[in-house]
Amino acid sequence: MRTWIRSLRPLEDTAVPAPARETVDMREAERFVRQFHAENPRAGDPLARLRRVARDVARSGTYTHTAAELEFGARVAWRNSNRCIGRLYWRSLKVRDRRDVSSAEGVALESVAHLREATGGGRIRPTITVFAPDRPGRPGPRIVNEQLIRYAGYPRADGSVVGDPRYVDFTRAVRALGWRGGAGTRFDVLPLVIQPGRGEPLLCNVPGDAILEVPLAHPAYPWFAGLGLRWHAVPAISNMCLEIGGVCYPCAPFNGWYMGAEIGARNLADHDRYDQLPVIAGRLGLDVRNERSLWRDHALVELNVAVLHSFEAAGVTITDHHTESRRFLTHLAREEAAGRVCPADWSWIVPPLSGAATPVFHRYYDDRALSPAYVHHPRMV
Ligand code: ARG
Repeated sequence: MRTWIRSLRPLEDTAVPAPARETVDMREAERFVRQFHAENPRAGDPLARLRRVARDVARSGTYTHTAAELEFGARVAWRNSNRCIGRLYWRSLKVRDRRDVSSAEGVALESVAHLREATGGGRIRPTITVFAPDRPGRPGPRIVNEQLIRYAGYPRADGSVVGDPRYVDFTRAVRALGWRGGAGTRFDVLPLVIQPGRGEPLLCNVPGDAILEVPLAHPAYPWFAGLGLRWHAVPAISNMCLEIGGVCYPCAPFNGWYMGAEIGARNLADHDRYDQLPVIAGRLGLDVRNERSLWRDHALVELNVAVLHSFEAAGVTITDHHTESRRFLTHLAREEAAGRVCPADWSWIVPPLSGAATPVFHRYYDDRALSPAYVHHPRMV
């Protein structure tokens, strides 16, 4: 990637670098080290490791995870994600250890490399890249974007939006920083905004060949392709902190693969996102003036059929909400068999369409915050 767009003035809400994080809480460090050794009995003596950790924390206010601890911590943070239905494969998370990278340019290059590796030409691999942690007096870098790939939103004079309305503010902010990359389409990929621990943020475009997208078509309705809808193949959350044993990694973008309903029942369907249900219902010839025609429900199903069909035809990994619900219950049973609680938030686990037609609807879950975890830290400004 060659084109950086250096910011002329700092982005408003990232202008002040995050203040120093305090000293690591030794109780959190100890809990993690004990958990690591309990689940990895071949890792040796936890007491020897604990002594070294305590010494390092006393000297420097923090300690450094071993590669094995980092990998375990990132995987268990996924296992503990109470909103995620796709946790059956938590052990397969590929961990890219880039803790030596803290410059904005380095984060940009490695984030693009992450996308290429994780995309795998369509064979998507759950992957996380872990950059430099916060240390006392030395905050780590951050990616301001919610995900590595997201579409710009441009407001029109009549109040409607071209593109994704969720990112209107973000789009305005990157334009103020000097971004001129957008062609003004409904699917312009936003640039990355990277805030280093110290210094000004960096704006950079994600190269087109690192972004796999799928144009949407419907197996039975030829007109569907004419709607010009598409979506990106890889959902890569980039603004959550990875917390392991009292250490915070503020820059740790991670991805899985999509469940079709995220795109078909939310991103393209929500009234405050792409709002495509009225358009599709119109093309289906449904009576949109009468709620009891269930035109929304019909349109929703056809849109979701199109998403699953198109990804599959393009050879891009995707899952459906029925299969994923069953897998989640398998995961739950395995966790219980291992003597662990599997925290789950019903309101996130139940799919946004056909809820009661999936098995995850018909029960309650134990929900509690476990560590390690992916968390949203308020940006410290
Ligand atoms: N729901 C978000 C989106 O549509 C992505 C969240 C993570 N999803 C996943 N399958 N790993 O972009």
